[in-house]
Amino acid sequence: MLPGSPELNAATDALRDRLGDRRPRVMLTLGSGLGDLADAVTDRLEIPFADVGLPDTTVPGHAGRFVSGTLAGVEVLVQQGRVHLYEGLGVDRVVAAVRAAAGVGVGTYVATNAAGGIVDTLNPGDLMVINDHINGSGQNALTGIVPPHFLDQSDAYRSDLRASFHAAAKEVDVTLREGVYVGLAGPTYETKAEVAMYRIVGGHAVGMSTVNEVIAANAAGMQVLGCSLITNVHRIGGTPTDHEEVMVEGRAAGPRLGRVITAWLPTLR
Ligand code: 6GU
Repeated sequence: MLPGSPELNAATDALRDRLGDRRPRVMLTLGSGLGDLADAVTDRLEIPFADVGLPDTTVPGHAGRFVSGTLAGVEVLVQQGRVHLYEGLGVDRVVAAVRAAAGVGVGTYVATNAAGGIVDTLNPGDLMVINDHINGSGQNALTGIVPPHFLDQSDAYRSDLRASFHAAAKEVDVTLREGVYVGLAGPTYETKAEVAMYRIVGGHAVGMSTVNEVIAANAAGMQVLGCSLITNVHRIGGTPTDHEEVMVEGRAAGPRLGRVITAWLPTLR
């Protein structure tokens, strides 16, 4: 589903049709266990991905749909349930929802995700504003004939949005960390040697999403904010990571992230 392809054009047209006179300004992708924020959207219109020809997800805890409506007075398009590379889909399908949103005029992309902390300063339940990423997914959303081929990414996670997000967090008394997100293909969690490597190269948290969506969003001219919910940590000699722990921590810390997003949205321009 490359830009300009009949498939993506059809999905974008179908999404525009379903939205009618709604004009969402912000797309928010909710990661594992963060789905509750979608429940706070008022004046709701639910649009299952399948209805508009967008790829659907197969992961427990993810419902594959957009929720259009209002959050904190701002028109939003919430992506509840994303598709991942580890589901076996090509990168162009993974980023299709972002491209369709850009196609209907959404100017801001907010990515949230569940991630594993790999530095001693991060703990389960922490919220980490993403200030940069390392794309370790082995894929790139702009592979193929997708201009701009040589996209500048030196401010991929916009510093002005990070600053306003920190200010909003202060208003609602939520502590935020900041760091580098390493986006991997999964679906395995990391070996000890891999964790050691990602630490050495400057990563703070690892996860299985976001990086290609952010590349596609930036390429489409959207401004991007990213925030990871640290659900578990890799410690030397620590216990193995399991999916249940990720889901539980996601549900516990999700409301805090929701409060920050709710305080921040009205400050967007
Ligand atoms: Cl520890 N690793 C990866 N790759 N993804 C995660 C995670 C860890 N924790 C949550 N998501």
